[in-house]
Amino acid sequence: MTRTISVIQKKGGCGKSTLIISLASILAGEGHNVIIPDTDTLHSSSLWAQQEISGRGSIDYLRETNDNAITNLLQEVRSTYDYTLVDTAGFNSRIAGFIAVESDLVLIPCTTTISDIAGAIDTQRFLSKLSDKIGKPIKSTVVRMDFDRGTRNVEDITNELSNEPDLQVLDAVLWHTTTFKTAMNTGEPIKARAKIYTQELVRELRAKDLIPPAIIRKAAA
Ligand SMILES: Nc1ncnc2c1ncn2[C@@H]1O[C@H](COP(=O)(O)OP(=O)(O)O)[C@@H](O)[C@H]1O
Ligand SMILES: [Mg+2]
Repeated sequence: MTRTISVIQKKGGCGKSTLIISLASILAGEGHNVIIPDTDTLHSSSLWAQQEISGRGSIDYLRETNDNAITNLLQEVRSTYDYTLVDTAGFNSRIAGFIAVESDLVLIPCTTTISDIAGAIDTQRFLSKLSDKIGKPIKSTVVRMDFDRGTRNVEDITNELSNEPDLQVLDAVLWHTTTFKTAMNTGEPIKARAKIYTQELVRELRAKDLIPPAIIRKAAA
């Protein structure tokens, strides 16, 4: 069952860290133990996780930018946490390959820019090649981020992405809403529309067996 989920995209600023903190909010809010290994020197998601905010659930973080250390580290945390959500700086670094190999699922965020679309396609090709090299499938799917609801863009970009073989696109979209930015800036869990969109995403990931069902823990006696 999926436990280690990473975000990888060639293009920066596509919503990788936003997706990580949103998933962390929902999964920890359900009572899961979550860790965010942050491998980006910008530290966006770990700065969010670092803030002492009550009511956010169990979210730990660690920082690691050494590609020789990341594989062991991800294997170690796997047994301790329900979900390992790995943030990256993109795929133009050796570390992204190591992370992809350890991931049960790679999410490829994509906004509405031409460079993001090209980046999502390049990222999928990178993952397909890597998967051939290691002789093991690497599950991956695109998550559309920061799209404006009801615009022609949505259909056009989705069609363009769908033309690429091996590239899957989720139905759920993290539509544009400033509530994602608010969460990132305050350290709060995602709220309002950002929460609804991410809950839809989690529901679809479960319906497609891309992540495990919610764990129901019995209250301590
Ligand atoms: N669905 C969304 N609605 C509004 N803003 C978004 C959304 N997704 C991402 N953003 C914004 O896009 C910018 C880049 O996102 P970020 O997660 O930092 O990207 P990355 O980690 O890939 O560099 C941030 O300002 C973030 O708030
Ligand atoms: Mg980031």
